[in-house]
Amino acid sequence: MWYFVVPEVVFGEDALSHLAELKGTAAFIVTDKNMVRLGFVGKVKEQLALAGITRADVYDEVEPDPSLQTVHKGIAVMQDFEPDWVVALGGGSVIDAAKAMRAGYERPDIPIEDIAPFVTGLGLGARCKLVCIPTTSGTGAEATWAIVLVDRSEQRKMGLGSRDVLAELTLVDPIFAAAMPPQVTADTGMDALTHGVEGFTSTFKNDISDGLCLRAVQLVFEYLPRAVSNGSDMEAREKMHNAACIAGMGFGNSMAALAHALGHALGAVFHVPHGRAVGLFLPYAIEYLREARAALWAEVGHAIRLEVENEQKAAAVLAQAIRHLAGSINQPLSIEEAGIPLEALKANMNKLVENTTADTQLVTTARIPSEADTEKLFRYAYDRKSVDF
Ligand SMILES: [Fe+2]
Repeated sequence: MWYFVVPEVVFGEDALSHLAELKGTAAFIVTDKNMVRLGFVGKVKEQLALAGITRADVYDEVEPDPSLQTVHKGIAVMQDFEPDWVVALGGGSVIDAAKAMRAGYERPDIPIEDIAPFVTGLGLGARCKLVCIPTTSGTGAEATWAIVLVDRSEQRKMGLGSRDVLAELTLVDPIFAAAMPPQVTADTGMDALTHGVEGFTSTFKNDISDGLCLRAVQLVFEYLPRAVSNGSDMEAREKMHNAACIAGMGFGNSMAALAHALGHALGAVFHVPHGRAVGLFLPYAIEYLREARAALWAEVGHAIRLEVENEQKAAAVLAQAIRHLAGSINQPLSIEEAGIPLEALKANMNKLVENTTADTQLVTTARIPSEADTEKLFRYAYDRKSVDF
């Protein structure tokens, strides 16, 4: 038995106007300063006013890789303001922080750091509901129940989450995606691709999430290059925004795998953006899992109309196609191309291997690498060498 949970999703042009249908009195808008500057917070407030929600407070202090401390600060403001809606307007960092804030506001008796997959029955939504409005097309955080926070006092990343923290509503409106610069479009788009591919091939893969993951992969292959090369191509923007949400719905219910474990490790040490890091490792992870997932690589290949002669060759063909896609949008294909000197890689190798081994996404990887293999994966990914072990 397993669960499949997703929020209600309103998508497409003008999806934002659905805010005018909300029932409530006070909204707490969780966002960052960039969203205020772009005028997006103003757009949200306009729609809320149409819903009769005239009390709106803006909390714009969410930083990239949000901290537990930022979340606690937000909850304290909420306890005074007493909202019945939290509106998360931003990328994955903002949305994760907002999920944690809503949970902490409604259940101050449960420490945020205790919110784990098997902690359920929280009864969220009774006092305050959560609506997510993603402004990047990648993390899928608007559709998942995962929360990643950093504890600044101990400098550690915390992977939290429970089905109960899922948003009640998600508005996937392409107007927000259109403001992303090309580099952010490319980075986050590679994240969406990695969610689709890993969600379809993790050991938690299942019939309900499979279709979503595959469709997301198709959409990324077709529309990501267009969205990067011409940011005002609104068809490409809309398709990529949908793809990210679809991939989130898929992998959120089947988990990610090796490319995420390696990418998290690299990102934590060298501060490579999440999507760029996981996208870099995706072809290497596919090659490493070539036998463990042979039939599935062929399925992914067929879904994007690659010529796959047989299952044995499918991983290589797919990895090559992903490298070609990444190269076409100027993404690094190796750790060296990501700007990391070899000396720095060597000096941090123990930490990288340790981080990868400890990563939760390794649990759902179909072939779990030994420490020696993990080190080799980093070496090969540095040298841009296809995995042959
Ligand atoms: Fe990701």
